[in-house]
Amino acid sequence: MYDLILKNGQVVTPDGIISADIAVKDGKIIEIGTIASSATEEIDCNGLHVLPGVIDTQVHFREPGNTHKEDLDSGTLSAIAGGVTSIFEMPNTNPLTTTAEALTDKLDRAKDRAWCNYAFFVGGTKENAEQLPTLEKLKGCCGIKVFMGSSTGNLLTEDDATLQHILEHGIRRVAIHAEDEPRLKRRAKLVDDCNDVHQHPVWRDEATAFNATSRLLRLAYRTERPIHVLHITSAKEMENLKEHKKIASVEVTPQHLTLHAPDCYDRLGTLAQMNPPIRSKEHHDALWEGVANGTVDIIGSDHAPHTIDEKNQPYPKSPSGMPGVQTLVPVMLSHVNLGHLSLERFVDMVAHNPQKLYGIKNKGRIETGYDADFTIVDMNAKHTITNEWMKSKCGWTPFDGLKVQGWPTHTIIAGHTVMHNDEIIGKASGQVIEFQ
Ligand code: DOR
Repeated sequence: MYDLILKNGQVVTPDGIISADIAVKDGKIIEIGTIASSATEEIDCNGLHVLPGVIDTQVHFREPGNTHKEDLDSGTLSAIAGGVTSIFEMPNTNPLTTTAEALTDKLDRAKDRAWCNYAFFVGGTKENAEQLPTLEKLKGCCGIKVFMGSSTGNLLTEDDATLQHILEHGIRRVAIHAEDEPRLKRRAKLVDDCNDVHQHPVWRDEATAFNATSRLLRLAYRTERPIHVLHITSAKEMENLKEHKKIASVEVTPQHLTLHAPDCYDRLGTLAQMNPPIRSKEHHDALWEGVANGTVDIIGSDHAPHTIDEKNQPYPKSPSGMPGVQTLVPVMLSHVNLGHLSLERFVDMVAHNPQKLYGIKNKGRIETGYDADFTIVDMNAKHTITNEWMKSKCGWTPFDGLKVQGWPTHTIIAGHTVMHNDEIIGKASGQVIEFQ
């Protein structure tokens, strides 16, 4: 007797899409195929696709420090509402997550409050570089994150010597926000009191991104340390990274794949402001080329909520970042339906590749023995994304009013349904993600 059987779904496995049932017991996938046995619960997946639980490897949930924008409860609720079963959370909270104590504090806070599974990045700095080999191995740590350019919060490593020192300590893949801080500082006067968000990608231009990525690649080779370059935004960076797949994995965000300048700033003003910025159509097309040719490994949302009042301040006082964890799945499924990528490629980038690149234990694949985390989707369902649907404390989305085709119908974690047809079910029961 099984706990759960998902009946007659189109199942997205690492080897392709198959018609199959999936049986679950004690939170694990036990059998995949035609299953005759019965179960306590059966879900009819006829007409639906069963995906491995979607893993969002870049979110900012603001706890501790800025819980008026988001906390671990609301952020993870937003995740499951959008079909995301696991998240990696960033260290630019207040205080910063740069010590074992700060990591333990986040793990304590998440316990019994997180609706999805979770792990936390530790920020790499000049001060903690020598402790990083120990910190990166702690329970609940998904890796080290470094900001090369200043963004929200106070975490910054702007010089090569310090970055090299960080990369020399530890072995896990390091996630990097690559913008060149010295160039950002030199060009900051371009936006002084300008009150025009169209200047955002002018200040933080392509060279700012390219210089940082190039410096980073040199240091990664020198130290033989694998890196994961977050939210790539420009054509030249993408071309360059294509040649360095052995050492560098690559992330893009749904925002950069969906919006482009100047249209996004005309329509959304500072709501479209993020770091690194949304750029012109030419760059947007180059990101899609990176998805098509295999340069891009991961799609992460860079969920970075700020309140509407904060965002409404005149640029450049307005903070950078927009929410995204809840809209990642429907926005990308809509791109699948528009023919921009295949469903299999999407699943590679939000489940199979995160599992491989970060060495996640027992998640990210529909295979016997793996955790029973699933994102079930209806590729035919048509919906409009609205601010009202958002569970994030910030209460808005840059995709308000966007008509999409493709919608998450069930979020299942360890064999328990926590979201069905936009309704939240049960209680917060996310677990700490484990690594190999
Ligand atoms: O736009 C951004 N906002 N980029 C980042 O790197 C940080 C994020 C935030 O935390 O607000």
